[in-house]
Amino acid sequence: PPLHTLLNLDEIEAVARTQVSKKCWAYYFSAGDDLFSKYYNGAVFRNILLRPRVFVDCTAATTVTTLLGHKVGTPLYVSPAAMARLAHPDGEAGIAKGISRFGAMQLVSNNASQTPEQIVAEAAPGAVFGWQLYVQTTRAKSEAMLARINKLRDHFKCIVLTLDAPVPGKREHDEKSNLESQITVDSASNEKGTDEKKPGGGGVGQQLFWGTAADLTWETTLPWLAQHTDLPIVLKGVQTHEDAYLAAQYARKHPGSIGAIILSNHGGRALDTAPPAVHTLLEMRKYCPEVFDTIEVWIDGGIRRGTDVIKALCLGAKAVGVGRAALWGLGAGGWKGVDRTFEILQGEMDTCMKLLGVKEVSELGPRFINSRMVERD
Ligand code: FNR
Repeated sequence: PPLHTLLNLDEIEAVARTQVSKKCWAYYFSAGDDLFSKYYNGAVFRNILLRPRVFVDCTAATTVTTLLGHKVGTPLYVSPAAMARLAHPDGEAGIAKGISRFGAMQLVSNNASQTPEQIVAEAAPGAVFGWQLYVQTTRAKSEAMLARINKLRDHFKCIVLTLDAPVPGKREHDEKSNLESQITVDSASNEKGTDEKKPGGGGVGQQLFWGTAADLTWETTLPWLAQHTDLPIVLKGVQTHEDAYLAAQYARKHPGSIGAIILSNHGGRALDTAPPAVHTLLEMRKYCPEVFDTIEVWIDGGIRRGTDVIKALCLGAKAVGVGRAALWGLGAGGWKGVDRTFEILQGEMDTCMKLLGVKEVSELGPRFINSRMVERD
């Protein structure tokens, strides 16, 4: 069907499912164990209610904001997700092209199917990218990758260090599809800073994680990283208020180190029954609200509607990411499918802001939210 006839993200996903390979669908769809966290990521938003105000002139609502000091057209961003070319030859560069007219930020996976140089070639002027790092057991490979990103500083504005998956979760859909031998990427694995592929066995996720270090710590990893980049660090996969607090404490002690944290359970793909980001946001509001003033707090997981994005912003998130949605857009129609996905989400965000009685992202706050149904959980 023509893309403009698809009206929401569920319809885009349904079309993508008919167009991508079985292996691609299994890898993208999959999550840990019984998919409970993946389910809660989406469901939690349904139990948060909005509190619209009336009699407000909101003819000209805008989503323009800043992330780590850089101007972006929207707080909606693309989460790092491996292997976009499994869905469509347009790949990660197609995602860059698809989001370009919205001014959204794109975080590129360590395990992207195209090189960073290829990806930024499709970037709009002023587009903001981040590079996601899986630290490799052979540290020299990650160091070489960081050196390459440092050279692309016109585009890459942060290093996203993923912490929630020192090992991949047990993703049975992916493992069942069992077609790991057909992974193809443009860049040699060494070039991406990833260790050699695991020989045989497991799903795509297991293959890609081969060589990823599981020994990262507060004490050792951040000082090592600081020796190889001076880009701000974004810690991805924070799931408790305790770790959010530690991140802010580190940022205060080491100015210019951690710029943001991403509350995320990896789209439910790491530890099953780990909390949806919204639960962590609510914990933080209660136990360490000062963190929101020290570092930026971004979230991802389960975004299906513009209202989901706005609710997260009201609860203190500065940016909100989509992982699968961008991939399904790509699967449904290449870069144009990504463009349509963002058009839908941005349209829904705009409608939501106007119906709440809000003109700017900075006005959003907890006064627009009733989260009693979630806090009772
Ligand atoms: C991911 N995610 C991910 N995260 C990361 O830090 N590095 C990576 O390489 C990947 N790869 C990846 C592949 C696929 C197919 C998916 C679906 C996800 C996790 C991603 O960044 C994000 O946290 C989730 O996708 C957010 O949840 P939703 O939007 O998919 O519900």
